[in-house]
Amino acid sequence: MDHFDYVDGAMQVEQVPMAAIADAVGTPVYVYSTATLTRHVGVFRDALGSLDNPLIAFAVKANPNAAVLATLAKLGLGADVVSGGELLRAIAAGIPADRIVFSGVGKTAEEMRLALTHGIFQFNLESEPEAEMLSEVALSMGKRAPVAYRINPDVDAGTHAKISTGKSENKFGIPYARALESYAAARDLPGLDVQGVAVHIGSQLTDLAPLEAAFTKVGALIAALRDAGHDIRTADLGGGLGVPYDPALPEPPSPAAYGDMVCRVTQDWPVRLMFEPGRVIVGNAGALLSRVVRVKQGAKAPFVIVDAAMNDLLRPSLYDAWHDIRAVTPAGQRAAANVVGPVCETGDTFAMGRDMDVVAAGDLVAFMTAGAYGATMAGTYNSRPLAPEVLVSGDKWAVVRARPPIEALIAGDSIPDWLAD
Ligand code: LLP
Repeated sequence: MDHFDYVDGAMQVEQVPMAAIADAVGTPVYVYSTATLTRHVGVFRDALGSLDNPLIAFAVKANPNAAVLATLAKLGLGADVVSGGELLRAIAAGIPADRIVFSGVGKTAEEMRLALTHGIFQFNLESEPEAEMLSEVALSMGKRAPVAYRINPDVDAGTHAKISTGKSENKFGIPYARALESYAAARDLPGLDVQGVAVHIGSQLTDLAPLEAAFTKVGALIAALRDAGHDIRTADLGGGLGVPYDPALPEPPSPAAYGDMVCRVTQDWPVRLMFEPGRVIVGNAGALLSRVVRVKQGAKAPFVIVDAAMNDLLRPSLYDAWHDIRAVTPAGQRAAANVVGPVCETGDTFAMGRDMDVVAAGDLVAFMTAGAYGATMAGTYNSRPLAPEVLVSGDKWAVVRARPPIEALIAGDSIPDWLAD
């Protein structure tokens, strides 16, 4: 559920007309709803209600905007970060270091040092060489790093290949079959305090079965590790729960169903559970608001050319992702259309032959469910400045990232001496 609704025929976000934002800030612009963020945090937390003090660490990569992170920090969430940059963003937004977990296959010594300086809750290690490096870095600082190994359970998440992470051929985690050996080696590294097990098999999962299969393997591993004398105190079950994008498809499992499954599978585990939800917290809390530049005749359906492009919202061109496209002020008719951006690539296509509200030049359209992996994956291809971001709360709204002037983009480059005259 979100808070983008039609009131008197025009889309509002909470109590703010989308058109008012477009008029004031211009388009394209990302718009986020505080009420939706708050609701999703509540629903996810309630779903885990029977667990003892779970750590819910928001996957910052899904939406790293400072105002979004500050909203989630106030609601008590931690952060799952994958770079020094994300770590600093999370801390700057008020997320305490003891609620931060650091994931990712390529942490550098510098990033490890930064995270150790801040005293984060846990490093999720993804290989033995990484464990050795972290131990050395920690020792050089006179510290011991709290760690878990992310295991690769070799489970097919049944999602898009580019966002599937739990198969043995994927780059993530240590092989499940070798886990006991890897943990034994980690125990001998003096700079590490081995405290947990982690898993994350992919994103936009629409079936709980692969998650349950992965979690069951984690449970068996925890038992085996404790038998082998490891003091395993945490289990990080990752993120991955899908959200509804296409209203015509069956809804993905609810957070409540996910929570029931988690509670059932983990009931005997003697550990603190951790979660890294991203999309399920922010996905439906954001929309990309765009204006139709013109409508051009096409072979089968008209091309609706909007002022947002693949550089603003990459998901359709990268994953063939489906986003609902709604007129902000629907005229009442629907017809098939191809919705495209102005970038000079055929891949700059949001939808082909989509049955949608009929729109004309100058109309506003909203790309729904764009709060996760939207602005965060944007770039400046075709020298298009990053779209600004707006956060709404009730009848209040604020620009939480301004649209940079094109001059700033140009000034980022420099011309070497030998070309200067
Ligand atoms: N934890 C780890 C270690 C992850 O790699 C991810 C996402 C998450 C948690 C959060 O997963 P979520 O709950 O959001 O599914 N750009 C793609 C999604 C990439 C996901 C990467 N990892 C997309 O737009 O669909």
